[in-house]
Amino acid sequence: MKETRLAWSVAITLLMPLSGISAAQTPAEIAQAEYEEVLSLTPNVENGREVYMVCSVCHRPEGWGTPNGSYPQIAGQHSTVIIKQLADIRARNRENPLMYPFAIPEILGGPQRIADVAAYVAQLPMTPNNGVGPGEDLELGKRLYAQDCADCHGDRGQGDKEDHIPALAGQHYHYLMRQFDLIREGRRKNSDPKMVKKIQGFTPQEQAAVVDYTSRLRPPPERVADAGWTNPDFPGFVRDRAPDPLPPASATPIMPGFE
Ligand code: HEC
Ligand code: HEC
Repeated sequence: MKETRLAWSVAITLLMPLSGISAAQTPAEIAQAEYEEVLSLTPNVENGREVYMVCSVCHRPEGWGTPNGSYPQIAGQHSTVIIKQLADIRARNRENPLMYPFAIPEILGGPQRIADVAAYVAQLPMTPNNGVGPGEDLELGKRLYAQDCADCHGDRGQGDKEDHIPALAGQHYHYLMRQFDLIREGRRKNSDPKMVKKIQGFTPQEQAAVVDYTSRLRPPPERVADAGWTNPDFPGFVRDRAPDPLPPASATPIMPGFE
């Protein structure tokens, strides 16, 4: 009897800290810890190409996503942003039900493979034909961008590698709109709180204007591919037998199956 009690108290003492750690860590903390671990590693671009195979199904071999914004362009994005988003998505600090099953450690692998694939994606040249908005209200968009976005995202939408602030230049309009909605409504959990505060008061007209203007910011010319470029790393990729083999963009700003 006494031994049983002793065994229980030993077991509980041993298990407490373990369960305590996992219960106390929020998804944001888990993602941040993984982000820092990945940054401490040396990436292997060649291995990143192999990891990218699974990503290419949705983001396309070029990493350009789709101009309708269902899939974002990730080519040419800062490696730190790609690492941060992957760590956030698999820690559920950013909801992405479509991609989640491909981001978990059992499929994507550990921190080294995140470092490798991020380095591979970051060096891909960007699309010359991203989806842009209707082109109304660009003066208003320009003014709002300079006033409310440029401080963080840069005057040319170049982002900031050091602070894992995404480059927005060259991104598809509909993808940017969807993210803006999620951020404004507080539903993109990993959003910078200062940004959320800034954009909460935007009217639909102001939002459309600033996002349209943003989608027209050009990345540096040397980072953009020639029209018609295909990624020679994936020569066997079966392209568009049907007009668009991917699911169509959702009519609503939310991804299907979100929450
Ligand atoms: C099943 C389709 C699918 C696969 C496979 C997939 N993704 Fe994604 N990914 C998406 C979708 C859809 C989004 C945008 C979700 C949203 O709108 O919130 C996204 C978003 C991202 C983002 C965030 C982009 C940004 O600007 O914030 C990154 C980075 C990313 N994916 C990288 C990858 C990598 C690397 C892989 C391979 C390991 C991968 N994805 C595999 C569908 C996929
Ligand atoms: C205080 C700094 C700050 C300001 C101001 C700011 N942002 Fe951001 N923004 C960020 C950061 C940081 C992220 C990435 C959040 C993360 O994943 O950790 C981000 C992410 C985004 C994204 C998602 C990009 C992607 O690739 O998924 C969009 C879209 C965006 N911002 C648009 C805007 C627009 C438009 C404005 C101006 C109206 C703006 N932001 C103002 C810091 C800022």
